[in-house]
Amino acid sequence: MAGSAARQLALNALQRWRKSREFADSIVQRLILGSEQSRSDRGFAQELFYGVLRNLTLLDFFIGQLRDSAIDDLSRDLLRLGLYQLFELRTPVHAAVFETVELASPHRRSLINGIMRNAVRERDRLRSNAAKTPLHIRESHPEFLVRRWREAFGENCADAICRWNNKPAPIYARINTLRIRPEDFLKNNPTACPISAHPFFVEYEGLPEAAIARGDCYIQDPSTALAVDLLEAQPGEMVLDACAAPGGKTLYLAAITKNTASIVACDRDAARLKLLRQNLSHLGAIQIEVIQHDWLDERYPAAVRPKQFDKILVDAPCTNTGVMRRRVDVRWRLKPADFQQMHGQQLRIVAAVIPLLRPGGMLVYSTCSLECEENEELVKHLAHQVPTLKIQQTRTILPWRDHFDGAFATRFVLTG
Ligand SMILES: C[S@@+](CC[C@H](N)C(=O)[O-])C[C@H]1O[C@@H](n2cnc3c(N)ncnc32)[C@H](O)[C@@H]1O
Repeated sequence: MAGSAARQLALNALQRWRKSREFADSIVQRLILGSEQSRSDRGFAQELFYGVLRNLTLLDFFIGQLRDSAIDDLSRDLLRLGLYQLFELRTPVHAAVFETVELASPHRRSLINGIMRNAVRERDRLRSNAAKTPLHIRESHPEFLVRRWREAFGENCADAICRWNNKPAPIYARINTLRIRPEDFLKNNPTACPISAHPFFVEYEGLPEAAIARGDCYIQDPSTALAVDLLEAQPGEMVLDACAAPGGKTLYLAAITKNTASIVACDRDAARLKLLRQNLSHLGAIQIEVIQHDWLDERYPAAVRPKQFDKILVDAPCTNTGVMRRRVDVRWRLKPADFQQMHGQQLRIVAAVIPLLRPGGMLVYSTCSLECEENEELVKHLAHQVPTLKIQQTRTILPWRDHFDGAFATRFVLTG
């Protein structure tokens, strides 16, 4: 039956995710998109895999309602896949049951068959029970995260964030003005839909493979422009992009300065820097020196000197809570201690680059997190620690308010 290969791929991906520390995105790249299966099977497998991860607690709630004794991990993964199709994808009942049973090894088939058939019979009762569960169960998020968001943003926003995170993300692309003018891009790409929030961004229904292959656009959410726009880099300036890989913001910096700024793009991760180099060359960004360096190291890289830069962007590593609809398994990796630990790391990175900024120069600190330890508290802490660093402006994008990925950016000016 159609889709059997996709279901097997999704099951393999789920097992790999459960057994390893590998991120879901990387599993999709290697195991699903890199497989020999047809394009539609790969697409369906990805939808199943991400869908199960988005609905994990809810699916386990259903399993708990359908069976009160213990269940082995593989049977649980099979049932998660089957119940996801039944409850969320609205796959025809026969296909959802038959295909899930087919995936099971012979000695598991009667168990899986019994539970799936029971789920079909009890569908309405299960749905109504699920609707009465607390938010963290019915929207499948760790309870501590929901509690944090409730305390920080209130009940309605916590609810809205969880629902936002469970919706598949739209595809946005930035028009690469180094290669093509926006008006010509729109003429050549009639399926690209301009968005009112930003003149260089468009929305697509599917991946614009030809435009990507030509280097005419780069896939990124409009929220990624926030920090770069706030930096206001000018032609001819010296700019440090301190945490640059894989280069989404470096590319935009090169585009708005029309390749005339001298940009140093730095990152500690060699594999991500390789991707950054490929992206720069593919999209026609030049005058960019790429260096590998860890800002937590005591010594500075030879390629930079004190007070060298007019502008510095620190797009810091963060907990990614603003981009959870794209990074679907981030919620299952986070621990309550991560926010404070991340705060310490972010502070050390910014403190390390400040001596490289010239007096009067500007530094933008940004994250794609929603958490105050990594955002408001961090910039306050920094301004207190370095009195010559003055906060000029802060901008935020909140998914439930602005309908894009979450982003935070503060611009400082160095006064002495
Ligand atoms: C949010 S990502 C950057 C995304 C990038 N600005 C873009 O727009 O494509 C943060 C980056 O910081 C890098 N990073 C983390 N800790 C670092 C450190 N101590 N020194 C240098 N780079 C670091 C990570 O490897 C990661 O690529």
